[in-house]
Amino acid sequence: MKEKTVRYGIVGAGMMGTEHLINLRHLRCEGVAVVCVADPHLPSRQLAVDLAKSFDWPLKVFSGHLELLESGLCDVVVVSTPNITHYQILMDIINHPRPHHILVEKPLCTTVADCWKVIEAARKRPEMLVQVGLEYRYMPPIAKLIEIVKDGLLGHIKMVAIREHRFPFLVKVKNWNRFNSNTGGTLVEKCCHFFDLMRLFAGSNPVRVMASGGVDVNHKNEIYDGKVPDIIDNAYVIIEFENGSRGMLDLCMFAEGSKNEQEICVVGDIGKGEALVPESIVRISTRQDGRDGVRTLKAEDDRIKYQGLHHGSSYLEHLNFLSAIRHKGKRTPAVGLHDGLVSVAMGVAAQLSIEQGRFVSIKEVTSENKFKPSELF
Ligand SMILES: NC(=O)c1ccc[n+]([C@@H]2O[C@H](COP(=O)([O-])OP(=O)(O)OC[C@H]3O[C@@H](n4cnc5c(N)ncnc54)[C@H](O)[C@@H]3O)[C@@H](O)[C@H]2O)c1
Repeated sequence: MKEKTVRYGIVGAGMMGTEHLINLRHLRCEGVAVVCVADPHLPSRQLAVDLAKSFDWPLKVFSGHLELLESGLCDVVVVSTPNITHYQILMDIINHPRPHHILVEKPLCTTVADCWKVIEAARKRPEMLVQVGLEYRYMPPIAKLIEIVKDGLLGHIKMVAIREHRFPFLVKVKNWNRFNSNTGGTLVEKCCHFFDLMRLFAGSNPVRVMASGGVDVNHKNEIYDGKVPDIIDNAYVIIEFENGSRGMLDLCMFAEGSKNEQEICVVGDIGKGEALVPESIVRISTRQDGRDGVRTLKAEDDRIKYQGLHHGSSYLEHLNFLSAIRHKGKRTPAVGLHDGLVSVAMGVAAQLSIEQGRFVSIKEVTSENKFKPSELF
């Protein structure tokens, strides 16, 4: 029997919104359709309409998410708006009488308190599924390394080092990403991806964070409404986990000369594994087999029909979420609200550590809330 079409609405039709639109187009044979978008910025709306027209998808457009919700046109809402807007949009979707499943772009929100309020609200709507867009988990070489670690081939993981060396932040609609107040800070905004991965590899929750970073090269000559951007462009972050594992992030956003954008290195008491993106390579060996035993594996995933901006991970993210929606009750989204919250808490702790030049405990950044930190995990 043919399954019912799952209808999507996209709130925020900028770079990631159109990326979701194109990914969903490639999932058309799975029974999905994008039926509406909401965006207050006319050029973004127009771009989405033109793109959808070329796919033969007539789109209904709205200038705001409330009208989109009221229309009752869609079953799933993709939230791909500036970070600072996620909180209110999520609360409006969750509190709307008509249930919608939600895929929200990372970071879940810009503060721990807002993440928690979203979690509280979502608890009252168990009929709605919410997935957070921490899609680096799905990049084939990273997914392969996660599998290797889960299979115990490297033993107990003791160290996780993630290096991201890349180009500066791109220009966004109305330059929202130039200021910490809109993004949560670089270590929340983009590094939540890496904190999420560290936690997965370590198999444990974070206890405390120490970071050093600054605005040293990028954006120094940019001025918006009389203000110079304050987002950091490089940092080292050290994280200690409950089980004694350690994580380290090495972020540099003026490193266009890198062969790989992400290099992930995981060492356990049995062996070492590495994942390289975009080379899409995994290297693995054990202490016993040493350097001569290093195997290099090409990581591919035949399910990917569209590589897009993130090496096929957005495609797999949608495939996974669609499966959770279709098997509701039996499957949960792979990346839930708590994962979103902890990745934000780690970023907030790292930003605070840079500001104050000291170790910051996760308890400290979560204690402003009425709940106990242990409830987070
Ligand atoms: N998963 C990833 O790797 C990844 C990569 C890039 C961006 N992102 C995230 O995606 C989100 C969007 O980023 P982007 O790069 O597409 O930015 P963008 O500036 O290209 O697009 C944002 C769009 O949202 C619209 N918008 C602003 N306020 C809105 C509102 N209240 N309702 C509806 N639309 C609104 C803007 O007009 C714009 O068209 C951010 O949360 C960002 O962190 C994720």
